[in-house]
Amino acid sequence: MDADPNRLMAPIEETPDPALRPRNLDEYVGQDRVRDNLRIYIRAALQRGEALDHVLLSGPPGLGKTSMAYILAEELGVELRTASGPTIERKGDLAAILNGLQPREVLFIDEIHRLHRAVEEVLYPAMEDFEIDVVLGQGPGANSVKLPLSRFTMVGATTRSGMLSAPLRARFGIHATFDFYAPEELQQILARSARKLEVVLTPEGCAELARRSRGTPRIANRLLRRVRDFAQVEGDGTVNASVAKDALGRLDIDEHGLDGMDRKILHTIAVKFSGGPVGLDTMAHAIGESPDTIEDTYEPYLIQQGYLNRTPRGRVVTPRGRRHLGLPGPDPTQQSLL
Ligand SMILES: Nc1ncnc2c1ncn2[C@@H]1O[C@H](COP(=O)(O)OP(=O)(O)OP(=O)(O)O)[C@@H](O)[C@H]1O
Ligand SMILES: [Mg+2]
Repeated sequence: MDADPNRLMAPIEETPDPALRPRNLDEYVGQDRVRDNLRIYIRAALQRGEALDHVLLSGPPGLGKTSMAYILAEELGVELRTASGPTIERKGDLAAILNGLQPREVLFIDEIHRLHRAVEEVLYPAMEDFEIDVVLGQGPGANSVKLPLSRFTMVGATTRSGMLSAPLRARFGIHATFDFYAPEELQQILARSARKLEVVLTPEGCAELARRSRGTPRIANRLLRRVRDFAQVEGDGTVNASVAKDALGRLDIDEHGLDGMDRKILHTIAVKFSGGPVGLDTMAHAIGESPDTIEDTYEPYLIQQGYLNRTPRGRVVTPRGRRHLGLPGPDPTQQSLL
C-alpha cells in the first residue's frame, strides 16, 4: 500500500461548465424512475444511519451518470472519492483508496468495466464483506490477513454494462439504467443551462435544439454553446428558431439530430455493405473509427431511433435508415433480417 491515493483520487472528469451539472435530485431532470427509486433508497439509508447499498449506473455517454454519482454523495451528505477504472493499475492502489474511506462515504469508479481483472478481485470482498485481503511478507513466509474497511458505498458507472464481469455486477445492490431523454426533458435542461449561461433562448429555439440533441443532455448543452456563438457574432445574441436552424445546419447536424458520423455509419452499411449484415470491426475499419466508439457513442441512439439493427450476424440498416439517407427501399432478399 505504497500508492499515493491522492493521485488516483484526482477528479477524473472536469466538464467545461461544471455550473451546468445538476447539484441535487430536485435539479436532476428526467430519468424519472431511476431518480425516484434512488430518492427512496437514499432516504431509507439515511433513516437507518447506514451506508447506501452499492449502485451501478449504466447507459450511453452524456446521459448524466457522473452527475448522478456526485448527487448521490451530496444527498447522502458524505464525501465523494473518485477513481477511473483504467487508471488503477495495481491491487495496492485500490486497496489504499478503499482503506482511506470513511464510514458511509461514496467511492465512484468511472468506466468500471475497464478495471484490470486482478484489481477488480480486490473489490469482491471489499463490496461484500467490507474487508480486503492484505499479503504480509514475501515468498513462502508470506501470509494473508484480512483488513476491515469502513462500510462505504461503491458507485460504478459504465457505458457497457454487458462487459462487466458477473461477480462484480452481482455485488451491486442497485442497478440504475439510463435512457435517452425525451425532447421535453431536454427543453427543461436547455432552459436551465441558458439561464446559467445568460443566453436568451426563445421557446422555439429551445425546441429546435432539444429535438436535435440525440436525446443527450451533454450534446444539448454543447449545441447551446455553439449556437450561442453564431447568435452572438452574426445576430443580436438571441437564440431563436431560425438562428438555431441555421447554426445546426452549419454544424452538419441534420433535421433529426444525426451528425456526420451517424450518417457515415448508416451510409457505409447501406451502400458499401449492401445494407448489411456487417460485423462491427469490418464496418469500423471501413469508416476509420474505433469499434468501441461506434458501439458506445453512435450505435445506441441509431438503434433506439430505429435506423440501425443489431443482429447475430452483424449490423443492418433498417428501412427507416435507408429513407433517412434518401435511398430507395431495401432489397427484398434482405427483408427477413430486419
Ligand atoms: N438529468 C440532467 N439534468 C440536467 N443536466 C444534465 C442531466 N444529465 C446530464 N446533464 C448535463 O450533461 C452533462 C453530461 O453528463 P454526465 O457527465 O453526468 O454524463 P455521463 O453519463 O457521466 O457521461 P459519460 O458516460 O461520457 O461519462 C453534465 O455536465 C450536465 O451538464
Ligand atoms: Mg461520466
